[in-house]
Amino acid sequence: MKKYKNIVILTGAGISAESGLATFRASNGLWNNHKVDDVATIEGFARNPKYVHDFYNELKVELKKAKPNAAHLAITKLQNEYPAEINIITQNVDTLHEKAKNKNVYHIHGQINQAVCLNCGHVVETFGNVGVHTICPKCNEIGRMKPNIVFFGENLLCMDKVEYLLRKCDLFLSIGTSGVVFPAASFVQTAKYYGADTYEFNLENTSNNFFFDKHIVGPAGTTLPAFVSEMLKD
Ligand code: APR
Repeated sequence: MKKYKNIVILTGAGISAESGLATFRASNGLWNNHKVDDVATIEGFARNPKYVHDFYNELKVELKKAKPNAAHLAITKLQNEYPAEINIITQNVDTLHEKAKNKNVYHIHGQINQAVCLNCGHVVETFGNVGVHTICPKCNEIGRMKPNIVFFGENLLCMDKVEYLLRKCDLFLSIGTSGVVFPAASFVQTAKYYGADTYEFNLENTSNNFFFDKHIVGPAGTTLPAFVSEMLKD
């Protein structure tokens, strides 16, 4: 295999599926059991903040218990043993990358264990419940905390860093994402445009398949460790 210097790994809900976490668009997925409009839009939050807080407080309990799987651990092995800069851009709000001791993780859609104050912008880290009566520890406003989850229509987080990484990378791995939500779905095009080799790891070929040089089909918990072993072989 070629020697790479700057690797970007984009992950989606599929990398956490083998840790028992629901993806979004599968038949029993999060978005099939809840209305996106009610729990993942600013309008939904304004309409019924308690309902949205309850949804994420419930999700927190499940995500807190989840354990990283072989795919997350393969990334740790790659970061520890492969001589390159390796950055992770994740669409996931779970903390499985952190639990697997992955480094350089950028949560562009936010994190389940964070809440942000709409009054002063302060971000609180907690797996505890946040609700309409939560007081911001910085500005002491009551009921202005929002789950630090990027809702549809909001700007993504860390985008300045992401743009820089996509331009610089010579290998782009997309793992467990359906490639239907933008702008994350367009990251592979940017990486390709700037000369990166692009691989897609998924259970199936996604609609984004035109921009990938290679498709590695199968569960990431199996395909990614095998890929990492190949990369470390030389
Ligand atoms: N290994 C590899 N891929 C898998 C696995 C697995 N074990 N299990 C599922 N997948 C793939 C599915 O085939 C699918 O293409 O993971 C993908 C999950 O797609 P989605 O459910 O659409 O999740 P994701 O792509 O992360 O969604 C992106 O949409 O709703 C928003 O903010 C939300 O971050 C989310 C974004």
